Amino acid sequence: MLHLSFAKDYVLHRLRAKTRHGTHSPFVYRLLDEVIYDFKSKKVYDQAENLRKELLSDKRLINVTDLGAGSLLNKNRQKRVSDIAKNALKRPKLAQLLYRLVKNLKPENMIELGTCLGTTSVYLKNAAPDAQLYTLEGCPETAQIATEVFQKAGLNTIKQVIGNFDDTLPGVIGKLNKLDFVFVDGNHQKEATLRYFEWCLPKVHEGTLLIFDDIYWSEGMKEAWAAIKAHPQVTVSIDLFWIGLVYFRKGRVKEDFKIRF
Ligand SMILES: C[S@@+](CC[C@H](N)C(=O)[O-])C[C@H]1O[C@@H](n2cnc3c(N)ncnc32)[C@H](O)[C@@H]1O
Repeated sequence: MLHLSFAKDYVLHRLRAKTRHGTHSPFVYRLLDEVIYDFKSKKVYDQAENLRKELLSDKRLINVTDLGAGSLLNKNRQKRVSDIAKNALKRPKLAQLLYRLVKNLKPENMIELGTCLGTTSVYLKNAAPDAQLYTLEGCPETAQIATEVFQKAGLNTIKQVIGNFDDTLPGVIGKLNKLDFVFVDGNHQKEATLRYFEWCLPKVHEGTLLIFDDIYWSEGMKEAWAAIKAHPQVTVSIDLFWIGLVYFRKGRVKEDFKIRF
């Protein structure tokens, strides 16, 4: 049933969504033209993609601790690294979009909720090498593989924080005096997603970008996305179906965009 409704939502999104030509906001038009639709290949993407290739052929079995939306079904089980790489990592098109969004944003700090095996963290760090990147992961053995990935990439300044987001996120936010970029990509449940959003709010500013993954994944996630968009502090929201972007630019009429990606 979930898949049927997801497919229906996808078709509806394709029918309703605009491209840059149907967009009248200069801010969003520029973002689409120069960042979101910049599909040219870039040499810098090779590093993360080569690491992904290695992970896809890594047959080691690890114990996976699931603290997310699937945890009610199966809390602990063994999985092959190659299967995790195939099923849970952000695919290249989206990871490369995140790279471009971060490069354009020029953040001083970034938080990723859900490291998994770390390929997206590599993209994020390469997009803003001087920014502090905190990447949070609840499964210790998955995080250990990500540590190996960061070492191979020579990205030893990425700060890995292991534990349930409920326990680790408040501490990470507490260390920073402002939040520039937060990518929420784990525990896709309505209440949890809204909780992470609320925790970020006291530290967001005019230049902050929050990104929520899988906003059509379930009824709960659709409700969470609707509530986030409607929040009075949010001035621009961009629904790309796979992810939702949230901006807090001041002095603007609230606008919500459905965009093809
Ligand atoms: C979809 S994966 C992240 C993918 C990664 N960001 C990427 O772009 O390739 C989600 C990750 O979040 C972790 N996770 C889910 N719920 C969590 C929670 N409540 N606390 C900590 N980690 C959690 C899972 O263990 C999983 O590795």
